[in-house]
Amino acid sequence: MKIFIFCFLVFKSLTGNYLDSKSCAECHDNIYEEHKGSMHHLSSIHKDPFHRAVKEKTTLEKYDCAFCHSPVASNLLALKNGEEKPNYKSTEENDGVSCFYCHQITKVMEAKHQNINFYNYSGGKPTFFANIKDPDMSDKHDSQSNEIYQNSRVCMGCHSHKYNSFGVEICNTKSEPIEPQSDCVGCHMPKTNGSPVKVDKKGRSNYATHDFLGIRSNEMIKKAVELKLIKTKKGFDLTIKNKMGHPLILQPMRLKYGQTTIERDGNIIWKNFKASPLEDKEATFTVTYKNDAGVEVLPPQAKGVLFKNNLGANQSKTIHYEFPLQKGDKIITQWYSLIVRPELAKELRLEGEFLKIYEGIKTQIIY
Ligand code: HEC
Ligand code: HEC
Ligand code: HEC
Ligand code: HEC
Ligand code: HEC
Repeated sequence: MKIFIFCFLVFKSLTGNYLDSKSCAECHDNIYEEHKGSMHHLSSIHKDPFHRAVKEKTTLEKYDCAFCHSPVASNLLALKNGEEKPNYKSTEENDGVSCFYCHQITKVMEAKHQNINFYNYSGGKPTFFANIKDPDMSDKHDSQSNEIYQNSRVCMGCHSHKYNSFGVEICNTKSEPIEPQSDCVGCHMPKTNGSPVKVDKKGRSNYATHDFLGIRSNEMIKKAVELKLIKTKKGFDLTIKNKMGHPLILQPMRLKYGQTTIERDGNIIWKNFKASPLEDKEATFTVTYKNDAGVEVLPPQAKGVLFKNNLGANQSKTIHYEFPLQKGDKIITQWYSLIVRPELAKELRLEGEFLKIYEGIKTQIIY
């Protein structure tokens, strides 16, 4: 019996022993609970219906999305070439952007189509990287600090930029003058009271949260932009300022817009669009793509851009509206945000949160 156990341990350590995210919960209970609900945990084709729908409509044979959406899969190259298909039973694939994966990245290399994560693991007891000062010992893993977890470089293997197979830019987090690197961790992993481990031998009072809130959080949507209304001779001006450390639109299928209405004696007498916010192209932010025939297509099929309205980090724009205003008229601008454009959600048969209209900030003036 003893011999059997011994052989089993040697076998495991030689082949490389993936520790799934659930296994971290034993000691990192708070962080695991946050991570479990985050889009990092839910990023795989098996858990994100939006990702699955776009993949199935565009790249049926190959699955090169796995490099960022299921990076722990042991058969990444076979998935990319289409020799193997995603397997819904695979723990590694279902784990998405997992704890183990993120904390093994030691370096991010710049590349043309998308960056490359350098992964440290080669088997045996793993070393996890982050920035805890003087980390306590653990029998499950070693700990080591690495500056890319402090300066946010660790995010840039997957979030920096992506070009599709036709060389069309699909997203770009860095194409604006923020040097050396915007503080992703500062905005997306705020510190909270509590301990990073269950048995807190070092008496730590706070830790970096792992919810990675973004487009699905009312609280975060409220921090996206600053809105300002000013009276003019012929009407009013609306200034929209992007407050984030990256362009307003990252994932191109999102829809974000300012809805402006004028109220007179309690009745709405004007709105900047009737049925779809896209009627006011200045105040609506999204990116759509076309094929060679000029027909709208999904990002993986894009040969060129059909429509693009975006704002870089900290960039602002002013829109001039003309309207015969009267004294006492109330002008109101409300910011809204959707995970996916409604007509696209319908086409992809997405439901629930994908149809939700998230409310951002609101501003108003009396003429
Ligand atoms: C270079 C890394 C990378 C690759 C490769 C990649 N993605 Fe993504 N994808 C991301 C990141 C990062 C996000 C989150 C972006 C955001 O929210 O702005 C994302 C978000 C998405 C979303 C939005 C999901 C949601 O529920 O909000 C869809 C859909 C998507 N990707 C589809 C795909 C498809 C289909 C492929 C393969 C053809 C693919 N991606 C390949 C990095 C990548
Ligand atoms: C048996 C308990 C235990 C388990 C299981 C465990 N850890 Fe830890 N981990 C610790 C302890 C203890 C520390 C040090 C905490 C401190 O100093 O406050 C730590 C620290 C860390 C750090 C910080 C490293 C640094 O240098 O800043 C990371 C990252 C980490 N763990 C990741 C993980 C991941 C990922 C898993 C699951 C695959 C995991 N841990 C499972 C006990 C554990
Ligand atoms: C291994 C690739 C990878 C790394 C590294 C990574 N991400 Fe992500 N991230 C993704 C993917 C893929 C998604 C989208 C998942 C989906 O929606 O299906 C995502 C989603 C997100 C979202 C949520 C978007 C939403 O839906 O609101 C935020 C915020 C985010 N990442 C921030 C970060 C930050 C900050 C870092 C660095 C600490 C980081 N990510 C590191 C791949 C990665
Ligand atoms: C100044 C704060 C700030 C910084 C710095 C910042 N973000 Fe964000 N980010 C936000 C806010 C607020 C949102 C949610 C509102 C929105 O998306 O409109 C967001 C949204 C996102 C989303 C989802 C957006 C979408 O349209 O799908 C991703 C992914 C993301 N951030 C990643 C990053 C990465 C990676 C970095 C570092 C390069 C970073 N963020 C730096 C504030 C910030
Ligand atoms: C998208 C990448 C990413 C994922 C996924 C991720 N982490 Fe982290 N983690 C980070 C970064 C970046 C830091 C450093 C944050 C800081 O220092 O402000 C960090 C910090 C930590 C720390 C140190 C706590 C502290 O306050 O510095 C621990 C422990 C940890 N992570 C464990 C985990 C565990 C366990 C999981 C899964 C349940 C996980 N992480 C998932 C990126 C990630």
